[in-house]
Order: sequence, then structure tokens, then C-alpha cells
Amino acid sequence: MYTVPQLASFTPDELDRATAELTSALAEESAAVKTDADYKVFRDRWMARKNGILTQINDTWLKAAPGPQKRDVGQRVNQIKGKVEQVVAETEKNLTAGGAASRLESERLDISLPGIRRKIGAEHPILRTMQEVVGVFKAMGYSVEDGPEIETDWFNFEALNFAENHPARDMADTLFVAGQEKKRRRDQYLLRTHTSPVQIRAMMKNPPPLRIVCPGKVFRHDAPDATHSPMFHQLECLAVDTNIKFSDLKGTLDHAMKMLYGPQVKTRFQPSFFPFTEPSAEIYISCPFCGGKGCRICKQSGWIEMGGSGMVHPNVFRSVAEHGYNPEKISGFAFGMGVDRLAALRWGIDDIQLFFQGDMRFLEQFA
Ligand code: FA5
Repeated sequence: MYTVPQLASFTPDELDRATAELTSALAEESAAVKTDADYKVFRDRWMARKNGILTQINDTWLKAAPGPQKRDVGQRVNQIKGKVEQVVAETEKNLTAGGAASRLESERLDISLPGIRRKIGAEHPILRTMQEVVGVFKAMGYSVEDGPEIETDWFNFEALNFAENHPARDMADTLFVAGQEKKRRRDQYLLRTHTSPVQIRAMMKNPPPLRIVCPGKVFRHDAPDATHSPMFHQLECLAVDTNIKFSDLKGTLDHAMKMLYGPQVKTRFQPSFFPFTEPSAEIYISCPFCGGKGCRICKQSGWIEMGGSGMVHPNVFRSVAEHGYNPEKISGFAFGMGVDRLAALRWGIDDIQLFFQGDMRFLEQFA
């Protein structure tokens, strides 16, 4: 490694030789600098005020030069100082450029690598069932309606011919919004207990003839079990025209059930009561799993209840008489089906609670 020599003489030749030796050592050492740490050692070795090579040549060469040569030696030392400073600065610059290049290398993005795959969500089985049923009705020319999940007593009950003291209006059955005691009964808000209020909203919007379906969420003060949930889904259907008969209701439902569960499925209508239909009937389908023989899903009965139906009660038309609905001139049928039960049946699920628990192991099966 280079050390500053004592000069034998201060002649220009001797100074040239010594300068050449020094600058070649400087170039060699600069080329060997690879890291920040190398650079610091190199810089201090040459430029440190205390005992750096520049300080040493100042002491060993300039101070030792006899009077007449001091000027030449001084100029030479200054040139060397300039050279050393320049090489040290260049060394640092090269290092930073090299460092930046290697940092860029480490940050390089390989866009040919496969990305992180996020799981794509899938339609919930209830929504899927709703879309399928709606699709069947759309194909028959029905349009899709929507209504609010928070309704007034008038839309949910009164306009649908529920008697003043009908048990469904009881707080124990219906979820009312709290703090409305001062309001008139008909204006009180509640969570709709069925999708039937959408019949009223649709008739208020459109004059007859009318063919609509409305899928949606409904709420009841029901304890959860395998076939009940406090929040569930219904699909409402309403058809109004001048000559709608009970046979239209039967034919339409029979067709829809066959489209959903296959041509072998049978429908059955059992007399029932709803304030807003007369006559009223419960809709049953033959169990698609056992073909009606009796199994675990249909609780050995061979039949499964799907919803309520009937011919629209004249009082319902009277509620919307000013929108063109005259019970003397028109008739209609309506039904409401439990979508959760339709979905359970569609996939052979024996507990509708599974739909609402958000268990990925269950839901993934529908993806
Ligand atoms: C009704 O809600 C009537 N609005 C149906 C209707 C519409 C009749 C139009 C006539 C004309 P019901 O309360 O029976 O009827 O309910 C209909 C269906 O909803 C039931 O057959 C059942 O499939 C489903 N359902 C009722 N309660 C629950 C519950 N707690 N959890 C899950 N499904 C339920």
C-alpha cells in the first residue's frame, strides 16, 4: 500500500516521479472502493486533516523543501490536492450511482409473476334462487317491482283489508319502530311482515292491467328454527286484468313450480285464509326429493308448503280505487312464497338458519 516517501531532492524530475507514483496509487485505491464503508476509509486515508496523505505531503514535501524550491513544491502540492479532491468526489459519485442501480435492481418488479389471487365472491343461494324465480316470471311477461322494508301500518295491513284487531297487528307478531305512540295507527312504521304491501304500491303507480313480481326481505317476531327466521325472504306476485280467474292462478303457479323443480312436480291448493284474498289457498308442491312418497325433507307427508295465494279481495281494490281499480270491472290473483324455503328445497337443505350464519364452509358449496 502506498506511503508518502521522503523526497531525495526537490528537482522537477524527482517531483514528477513522486507525483506520478502518488496519482497512480490514488487511481488504484479509488477503483477498489465498492461500498460506502470502503469509501469512508478511502476518503479519510487521503483527506483526513490529521495524518491524511494530503496532510502528510504538506508536512513531508512542502515543509521540508528548501527555500528556493518552496514555490515549485507548493504549486505541485496544490495540484495534487486538487487532483485528490476530484478523485475522491468522483469515487463517491460512482458509488452512489452504482448503489442506486443496485437498489433499483432489488426493487425490480417482475410483472410476469402470477398475482395474488383474491377469492371472488359468489351469489348467495337465496339471491340466486330469487333470480331464478324472477326469471321464470319475467319469461311469462311479468315486470319486477320493489318496495321499502320499513313500511307504514296502512300499506302493510290496512290497505290489505286487515281488520282493526287482526292478531297479525299485535306487537308480539310484528316488529314496530319504537316511540311512535303519538302517531295515528295507519302512519306508524314497522318492518314489513310480508311483501304484499308492494301490491298496493304497484297498483298506486300503474293502472290495470298489471303483472308484477316483487322479491324482498321481510321480518317477523318469529323464533328461529329449521323452517323459520325473524328475517326471511318472500316473492310476491300480482296479476290484475278484466277476466283473471282462479284457474289462471293455478296454471301460473303450476308452470312456475315445474320450471323450478322439474316437470314431474305436482301442485296442490288447500283452502286457507288471508284478509286480502278471497278465496284463499295455501300452495303445496309434491316433494321433489321423494316424488311424494314421504321423506325427511317433507316430514313424511309427501307435500311441502310454499306460500299463500288467492283471488284479490275487492276491498284491496277499493283501497286503490282512485288509481283505476274498480272491483266491479277487474279481478286478479296474488301469491306470496317463502324464498328461503324454495332455496332450501332447491338444494336439499334441512335448516334455513344455515343461509344466514355466514359459514364459509356452507356458502362455498354454492360458488
Ligand atoms: C303471507 O305472508 C302472505 N302475504 C302470502 C300471500 C300473498 C297470500 C298474496 C295471498 C296473496 P304467510 O304468512 O303464510 O303468507 O307466509 C308466506 C310464506 O312465507 C310461508 O308459506 C313460508 O314459506 C314463508 N314464511 C313465513 N314465515 C316465515 C319465517 N319466519 N321464516 C321463513 N319463512 C317464513
